[in-house]
Amino acid sequence: MGHPADQPSVRIHESHRKQARSLEPDLIRWRRHLHQNPELSFEEQETSRFVTERLAEIPGMEISHPAATSVVGVLKGARSGRILAIRADMDALPITEENEVPFRSARPGAMHACGHDGHTAMLLAAARAFGDLRKEWPGEIRFLFQHAEELFPGGGEEMVQAGVMDGVDAVIGTHLWAHVPAGRIAVTYGPMMAAPDVFHIRITGRGGHAARPQSSVDVIVLASQVVQNFQMLVSRETDPLDSLVVSVTQFHAGTAHNVLPGTVELNGTVRTFNAELRKRIPERMEAILAGLASAHRASYEFRYDRGYRPVINHEGVNRVVEASAVALFGAKAVDFDQRNMGGEDFSAFQEKAPGAFFYVGAGKPGAETVYPHHHARFTIDESALINGVEMFLTAGRHLLEEGF
Ligand code: NI
Repeated sequence: MGHPADQPSVRIHESHRKQARSLEPDLIRWRRHLHQNPELSFEEQETSRFVTERLAEIPGMEISHPAATSVVGVLKGARSGRILAIRADMDALPITEENEVPFRSARPGAMHACGHDGHTAMLLAAARAFGDLRKEWPGEIRFLFQHAEELFPGGGEEMVQAGVMDGVDAVIGTHLWAHVPAGRIAVTYGPMMAAPDVFHIRITGRGGHAARPQSSVDVIVLASQVVQNFQMLVSRETDPLDSLVVSVTQFHAGTAHNVLPGTVELNGTVRTFNAELRKRIPERMEAILAGLASAHRASYEFRYDRGYRPVINHEGVNRVVEASAVALFGAKAVDFDQRNMGGEDFSAFQEKAPGAFFYVGAGKPGAETVYPHHHARFTIDESALINGVEMFLTAGRHLLEEGF
C-alpha cells in the first residue's frame, strides 16, 4: 500500500530537540543497564522497578502498575486536551547472549535479543523530555511500559483489560529494526505485522515392524502428505496477492530405524493479515487432516490457537508519523512497506484507539552481517535510540496539539 500524497505539516519544536539531545547519554546508559539485566516475559520485576524509579524522578508523573510487571506513567500538560498513549515493551528472550560487549547480558538464558531494552530506554527519555517541557503542551500522555510482548497471551491485552486505553485518542509505538539502517525510519500503511496463530496436530495410526508395513498404519507417510497438502492452501487456495504463511515447524515421531511409530505430532504457525483468511485456513487445515486420516485409516486431533491480532495501522495517525519522520530526518530517510509476517501485540492497543506502529532503523549502516532479531548475536546501533525519542516527541506533540 502506497503512502497518501498529502501530509499534515508537522513542526519540529527546537526545545524538544534540544531536550532530547541532552538526554542521549542517559538514554544509552539506561539501555545498557537494561541490556545487562534482561528479564523474561511476565518476570520483569527488576525492569519494572527500574522504570518506576526513573519515572518517579519526573515531577508530576503519576505512576501505576495496572497489570503484573507493567508500568504506566501519566503526565498532564499545561491544559486539558487530547489523550495520547505511547507504548514500549520491556521483555527479553530465553537466549544466551554471544556478543562480546561490556554490557552483555549478565544472565545466561536471558537476552535482550529483540531491542526491547532500547524501546524501554527510549520511552523513559521521551517521558523525561515531555516532563521537562510540561508547560508547552496540552492534554495528557500515558507512557505504557508493557511486560511480556514475546509470550502469548502477551501483556498488551492485560493492560488494555485494566483500562489503560480508556479515553485515549491516539496511540503510537515503535520497534527498533535491525534490517533498516540507523538514521532511517520505516513507515507502513495498512497491514504491517501478521496475526501469529499456532497449531498442534496429533495423528494416530498403528505402529509395527518396519518390514511389515501392510500390518501398520504408517503415520510418517501420512503426516508427510499432510505437510505437503497444507502448502496447497497457500499456493492453490489463496489469492496470490493476499499474504499467508503456513509453516510446520515441528515433526516428531519414532524411536528406532526398524519400528513404524503409532503416532506423530506436528506443530507450527499460520500467519495472516486478512480476517476472512484467518478464519478459513484452520477450517481447511482440518478438512485436509480429516480427509487424509480417513483415507488412510488413521485418526487425528487438531488444536488451533489464535495469537495476537495483526498490526494494522490507522491512516491518519500514520500520516503524522510519516510527516514527523520526514520533518526530522528528511524524505530520503523514510522507507515504506517494511511489512512482514512477524507478530506484535501492539495490536491490542490499536483495538482501542487509532494507532500507528513504525520501525526505527537500528542496523549498523554499511554492516555486512545483520544478525536477525532473536539471534544470540543480535545487536542495535545505539545512534538509533535518540531517533526513536525524537519521533515520540515530534509525532506525540503533533497528535496532542492537532490530532490527526
Ligand atoms: Ni520485538
